[in-house]
Amino acid sequence: MNEVNLLIAPGRINGMTTRNRIVMSSACTAMCSLEGYVTEQMIDYYAERGRGGAGIINVGYSYVDIRGKTGKHQMSTSEDSAIPYMRELTKAFHAASPVGTNIGAQLNHAGRQTNREITGFVPEAPSPIPGPFPTGRHMEVPEELSIARIHELVKIFAQAAWRCKEAGFDLVEIHAAHGYLLSQFISPYSNLRTDEYGGTLEKRLRIVQEVLEETRGVVGPDFPVGIRINGDDMVDGGYTIDEYRIVAQLIEKTGYVDYISVSAGQHHPDSAAAMVAPMSMPLGFLEYLGAEVRSAVEKTPIFIVGRIKNPISAEGILQRGSADYVVMTRALMADPELPNKTMTGQLDDIRPCITCMQGCTDRTWAGLDLTCLVNPAAGREKTWSRLEPAPKKKRVLVVGGGPAGMETARVAALRGHDVTLWEQSETLGGTALLASIPPHREEFSDLPRWLSTQLPKVGVKVILGKKGDSASVRLFAPDVLVAATGAKPEIPEHVPGWNLPQVITIHEALSGQKEIGDRVLILGHSTAAVETAEWLAERNKQVFLVSGAETQTWEDPMDALAYDKNSFTGRHSLMESVMQKIEFIPFKTVKAIEEGFVTLSPMGERHPCTTHYPINDVTDEQLVVDTVIIHLRQRPVRAWMEGLDNIVSEIYKVGDCREPRLAIDAMADGGRVGRLI
Ligand SMILES: Cc1cc2nc3c(=O)[nH]c(=O)nc-3n(C[C@H](O)[C@H](O)[C@H](O)COP(=O)(O)O)c2cc1C
Ligand code: SF4
Repeated sequence: MNEVNLLIAPGRINGMTTRNRIVMSSACTAMCSLEGYVTEQMIDYYAERGRGGAGIINVGYSYVDIRGKTGKHQMSTSEDSAIPYMRELTKAFHAASPVGTNIGAQLNHAGRQTNREITGFVPEAPSPIPGPFPTGRHMEVPEELSIARIHELVKIFAQAAWRCKEAGFDLVEIHAAHGYLLSQFISPYSNLRTDEYGGTLEKRLRIVQEVLEETRGVVGPDFPVGIRINGDDMVDGGYTIDEYRIVAQLIEKTGYVDYISVSAGQHHPDSAAAMVAPMSMPLGFLEYLGAEVRSAVEKTPIFIVGRIKNPISAEGILQRGSADYVVMTRALMADPELPNKTMTGQLDDIRPCITCMQGCTDRTWAGLDLTCLVNPAAGREKTWSRLEPAPKKKRVLVVGGGPAGMETARVAALRGHDVTLWEQSETLGGTALLASIPPHREEFSDLPRWLSTQLPKVGVKVILGKKGDSASVRLFAPDVLVAATGAKPEIPEHVPGWNLPQVITIHEALSGQKEIGDRVLILGHSTAAVETAEWLAERNKQVFLVSGAETQTWEDPMDALAYDKNSFTGRHSLMESVMQKIEFIPFKTVKAIEEGFVTLSPMGERHPCTTHYPINDVTDEQLVVDTVIIHLRQRPVRAWMEGLDNIVSEIYKVGDCREPRLAIDAMADGGRVGRLI
């Protein structure tokens, strides 16, 4: 038996054949125009995923009505004028995809999970309770929906479904999960109505049933219609699986639905991580909800989601009978070819999603178009998906085996260049390996692991334990030199005692190169500093985090911590976890370091914004610490390159060696330079 037999088996949903049981659920790409029209970038992105051959690919949620829009670059299904644009998408998708790969549209109204900045209107919701997400984005008190407006919305959903059918979509999915409008009606957490649309479970579900009935009436009996529901709202006062089993039964009983896709959570600090899970959540953590809902219904196919990243674990879910289809959404952002590779047995070649959020949620939440850290071609399909063979084969030397160097080498070799990569240590991976050491960051190492297995396959000659310097590069005489030697933390040499042995860098701490005492002070406030603090606390160290002068520019100094992790899920869970374990010392800076202690002094002038933590004490204080870990600014490591521009005519710098930034930028550099050479 093939180890992924069930996963690659075709399926049928209301007459629609699916090539396999792999689903990419809706994930907004923020690639539409401000009017909500599909763009060329979005077409290329989805056509590429269609080519990859999943059973179903649902396009990121669309808004059925302007008042339910939830992102500036979200797709509109609210007006007929959007149809021609959507038709271009479905045409391109079908042209690119194998038979049995279907494209669906998700129909949504945000309810209270939006604001007037996006829609131009006061949000509308079942009850006038503002959304809880503490970002300012969803805090507005919504208008309570009148019965007449509810009836209107029911029709609006159905009209949107008709537009999707007209535009050539193979299916539509009604979004009744994640705390958006229909989910708000279902959950007692957000619906306090006492009329026919609130109160009992049956009444809460009434609008959903009406939407399904109206939609079915409009699209006809043979057009696949699915629904996405929560299996658990994951908030106090919300519904749990006990109620959602009944919700699923009642939905099935309508006879209008062809599948139920089960998810969880909503825009709430306690539950957003269930909606789009960060690395700290276990793999396949929602499987039990799929199993519960599947056992509650009679025959409706069930989809389950939740950090299902590889075909073997997806197969396990099907074998255990927990679902009929497996949702692998970010996995398909990372590698659109995952389904084809699964079906042809190339499992080792699948590029893994590392659940970092940097390219997907972090960007789309900020209104930026989606890309992917491990797959920088995502969102850049037009120019990056097909690699152009190099016009002239060159001898390329890449110095440095972190992600940026490896990605450059991989892409350049695929284009036909003769590529050699030198790495000074005995392992490939660079800072990506160090980034995988703190708790819940293990999957970061999947990226260097994947890249390092690909390099020999594409013909890159990897030489470990080889340091690049001008003499060795001169001897090698490459046509092209790629500098990928990363960056080093800058040591604040103005602080007396900076050169004592107990003062170490974050790299030295994480790599185990230097010993760490029991009481540790970390100077820095980036995600790396905060994650290292958590790592040390879990090793029973007493950790103090002094964030440095930068806190002055944040309204609340807490906001400065992990400032470079803007994902609403990842940052929240990190901060929640770390703050229980360490002591954060705001508005202090390290004045001097001596054997066994540091002197902390209050920072100079208080910034006018910093109203939360007024500085009362102006005196220095001493703190007993054994080790001081520095992680302030980073400086590119480039000294070894001196004089090389006289020897090599084509030189590129990539990753932190070009400019210290996030891993996503390093990979994008690698992708860009690999295509430039
Ligand atoms: C960038 C991004 C956008 C998303 N947008 C939507 C959406 O439009 N509709 C929806 O139902 N879920 C949305 N989700 C949730 C995904 O459909 C999916 O449930 C989630 O990514 C978890 O699945 P995974 O672990 O396989 O990635 C989004 C997720 C991401 C990462
Ligand atoms: S950006 Fe990170 S989390 Fe998002 S799909 Fe890519 S690897 Fe996965």
